Amino acid sequence: MSLDKSIKEIKTSFRLDLSNCKTLTDLENLRIAYLGRKGKITLLFDDFAKLSGSEKPKYGKALNVLKTDLTAAFNKKSNILSPNQGKSSDNSTDFSLPGYNLPKGSLHPLEQVTNEIKSIFQSIGFSVAYGPEIDDDYHNFEALNVPKHHPARDMQDTFFIDPNTVLRTHTSNVQIHLMENQDPPIRHICCGRVFRNEAVSYKSFCLFNQVEGLVVNESSSFAEMKGTLEYFVQEMFGKDTKMRFRPSYFPFTEPSAEVDIWNDKLNQWMEILGCGMVNPNVLKNVGYDNTKYQGFAFGLGIERIAMIKYGVKDIRLFYQNDKRFLEQF
Ligand code: DAH
Repeated sequence: MSLDKSIKEIKTSFRLDLSNCKTLTDLENLRIAYLGRKGKITLLFDDFAKLSGSEKPKYGKALNVLKTDLTAAFNKKSNILSPNQGKSSDNSTDFSLPGYNLPKGSLHPLEQVTNEIKSIFQSIGFSVAYGPEIDDDYHNFEALNVPKHHPARDMQDTFFIDPNTVLRTHTSNVQIHLMENQDPPIRHICCGRVFRNEAVSYKSFCLFNQVEGLVVNESSSFAEMKGTLEYFVQEMFGKDTKMRFRPSYFPFTEPSAEVDIWNDKLNQWMEILGCGMVNPNVLKNVGYDNTKYQGFAFGLGIERIAMIKYGVKDIRLFYQNDKRFLEQF
């Protein structure tokens, strides 16, 4: 059958012609001669169309193989002759296009405020301490001068794990751990999560963060505490921030006070922390000589500070992990 012969002949002549191609123009001419619209292979397909039905499968396959083989050999040669040889011959990448921004993470606003608070206190000689979030009743309450059944326990609704173990209701438990583990002088802050079994609303959440501060030595005073906290408020909220100390009550301090700062936007005082001189009973509980040592302590809520600083009106926003909220910080 002539088609059989033709296929063989074309194969041989194509090889020869291909090896004689020295330039891309030669190659293009070869392509037109064989694979072009009127090329030898295309014409073979025309002959093929005239075959009887029984012959078609065999020659159809042979023709397809031929065309694929020649195209592959052609492409190979084309790559060798191409001036971009060795580089990518793919022009589909436009290197002049601007890049696109990959989304990047950032610190949670509470983490940012915590870091700021830490660095303010570190700048005046405080070290950072850590303590347990799950603690016994003794460290969270009793050693802090809050005996069982004392009404002051009602100030903090507690999550009990068992009758003697609690999720700490404040970071004040770290005061006790610190004093049990080292002798005065002490000048530490501790930041961390605390837990309260309270109804969740825009202003209270079952978990929040506090910073606890503790200074114990032979000379600390209420005046020094005021100076320390004034410095903190000015650094945190600005030099002109108005603040006031208000007498208050905490079992672990005597005398005790709370600090408010004036919020210009809301036109009202806002409480930001509790503080006081460490109650001599607390010093006695950890085995310190309370006739020789005295100290002051303070505790502030980080969400409170962040809400005032950034004008956030609902504490729950800090815990919803909504990117639209978090991306604003
Ligand atoms: N622990 C108190 C609370 O969570 C805050 C506090 C008040 C801490 C006075 C102190 C302090 O260290 O001296 O409400």
